[in-house]
Amino acid sequence: MNIEEPLVIAVDGPAASGKGTLARALAKALGIAYLDTGALYRAVALMVRRSGGDPAVEADGMAAAHALAEGGHEDIFSDPELRSEENGQGASKVSALPGVRAALLELQRQFARRMPGAVLDGRDIGTHVCPDARVKLFVTAKPEIRAKRRFKELQDRGDAVMFPAVLADIESRDARDSQRAAAPLKPADDAVLLDTSELGIDQVLDTALAIVRERLSSGGAAAS
Ligand code: DC
Repeated sequence: MNIEEPLVIAVDGPAASGKGTLARALAKALGIAYLDTGALYRAVALMVRRSGGDPAVEADGMAAAHALAEGGHEDIFSDPELRSEENGQGASKVSALPGVRAALLELQRQFARRMPGAVLDGRDIGTHVCPDARVKLFVTAKPEIRAKRRFKELQDRGDAVMFPAVLADIESRDARDSQRAAAPLKPADDAVLLDTSELGIDQVLDTALAIVRERLSSGGAAAS
């Protein structure tokens, strides 16, 4: 047992699967840090759009990703536009660019090295960013259920949205995120699948905590 090793938990899954809510709750319950890696891609997309660039153009995305990684742009994370559906589409486009992914990789890995550990949520945490994560969860839910959750979230923000458009956005984002060549969305071979379609957050958290405990006891090492 190596007590110097941080407890890293990878939580991956498609848009609006509930992975963010779960990852945040897990980090709180275990007393470890939390990183929403989707917010990094959203920040890059917003920086590109604000500078008049195109989120599908690699040079534009890379310039923004390097600027973000260098620091000094933290204000972007509190910009209300960060969470809009349009910026989510932009994030999905910049995230398909290998240069953007490479520019954000070390930032994420550095976060995962902090003690006593961290939960990272995203699309490729278990497969690429932290392939050695002690626990890997892949959170899914049916597309209609995810679209309903996202629709409510956008309505609560005061955005004027139509359900069919939100469902179409979720489906196009799923297709782009899972079909791209660079680190596509897919469960790691050793990930545990968690379908949240019929579960509330308390049940999802209890199930995830049981998986974490089981993994830690069978792996022999525990950091918390
Ligand atoms: O989780 P989210 O909806 O905020 O993510 C926005 C986009 O960022 C998503 O469509 C795909 C991309 N993303 C990624 O490619 N890799 C990650 N680790 C996290 C997000």
